[in-house]
Amino acid sequence: MILDIINKKRLGEELSYQELDYFFNGYLNGEIADYQMSSLLMAICINGMSDEEIFSLTKIFIDSGDVLDFSDIPGIKVDKHSTGGIGDKTTLVIAPIVASLEIPVVKMSGRGLGYTGGTIDKLESIPGFRVDLSDEEIIKQVHDINLVITGQTADLVPMDKVIYALRDVTATVSSIPLIASSIMSKKIAGGADKILIDIKVGNGALLQTKEEADKLSELMIKIGKVYHREVRTIISDMNVPLGKCIGNSLEVLEAIDVLKGQSDKTNFTELCIELATEMVSMGKNIAEVEAKKLVLEVLENGKAYNKFLEMVEKQGGNINKIKVSKNELEIKAESAGIVKDINALELGKLSLALGAGKINKDEKIDCTVGIKLEKLVGASVKKGDLLAKLYFSKNIPDYKLEKIFNIR
Ligand code: URA
Repeated sequence: MILDIINKKRLGEELSYQELDYFFNGYLNGEIADYQMSSLLMAICINGMSDEEIFSLTKIFIDSGDVLDFSDIPGIKVDKHSTGGIGDKTTLVIAPIVASLEIPVVKMSGRGLGYTGGTIDKLESIPGFRVDLSDEEIIKQVHDINLVITGQTADLVPMDKVIYALRDVTATVSSIPLIASSIMSKKIAGGADKILIDIKVGNGALLQTKEEADKLSELMIKIGKVYHREVRTIISDMNVPLGKCIGNSLEVLEAIDVLKGQSDKTNFTELCIELATEMVSMGKNIAEVEAKKLVLEVLENGKAYNKFLEMVEKQGGNINKIKVSKNELEIKAESAGIVKDINALELGKLSLALGAGKINKDEKIDCTVGIKLEKLVGASVKKGDLLAKLYFSKNIPDYKLEKIFNIR
């Protein structure tokens, strides 16, 4: 049976619900070995899956754990997910914006993966901030302040946890059917009424082409229909990093600046406004122009920032204690010109090498390290101008300036 199923997928044939259920639950229960699951995942990666197979897989994922029920919390609950990028701290800004407009937000976030950072790691750089709230604590906090950002509870789609860990080490992460069922199962089990997905495309993202992103978007919308959830998607660029900062504490501080209205306009502020607008439009059933006005209003009048502070206080954090390493290295321009491009992937690799992410599963993240860009795409620079600052703890990794900044 096990080999028949792998062979079937290897030949590009469609697997039934029963076959997928047998195989995936067999793996979760320890009856199917890593190498057999790896083989099936690679066959899925190469030959793809039909819509029916993807719907079956999503159901198997959802059914592997608890499904949260927030139906007794009034209002439309809107959730958001990003497929992962470099410098992507949008959740820290948009969740408080949306919650300050009386739309309940329960955001279950993940940790960093590969070169991309995770919201939970970023929040943990706020000393004391708890990311392990129980179901009861989550419900109480949404009732009280409309906003929770916490880690996924152990019982939320346990199948995704084991399959994701295996995909990560078998080069099977960037399969569109597997991404679609992984993300959508978590969003549906997480109890959201409506879901916004930020699909990233570019060298610092899982997907490299707009065609792949369109395909993923179409699939996620179809899965949403099966579960009667409205799904909207935004396809955003991940060839350049988001905003100026990469690294956990630095990114939280940048998000705080945006919430306080003290930040320059960057691609990060623009994306935050775009995503928050979609969420508010979904949560209040209003047109996007109207939603955007509300978003800009709560950013200007400080309500969004106050909502963020309320959440930090409820979850035990203290933003005055956020630490950034005192060891700084200035990176200066070696020639004059215009910054044509800043390579997201290279910066992701550098931040990982600095210790802002994990290379091995058992490593600890250093939340004080990272990179702050002082010049962004389009800036004109003279020889010797400051381009970026590296904040390091132990070592300064090797890097090639010309690979990061394209100045012509
Ligand atoms: N993020 C997820 O949660 N799952 C994927 O498969 C890819 C990105």
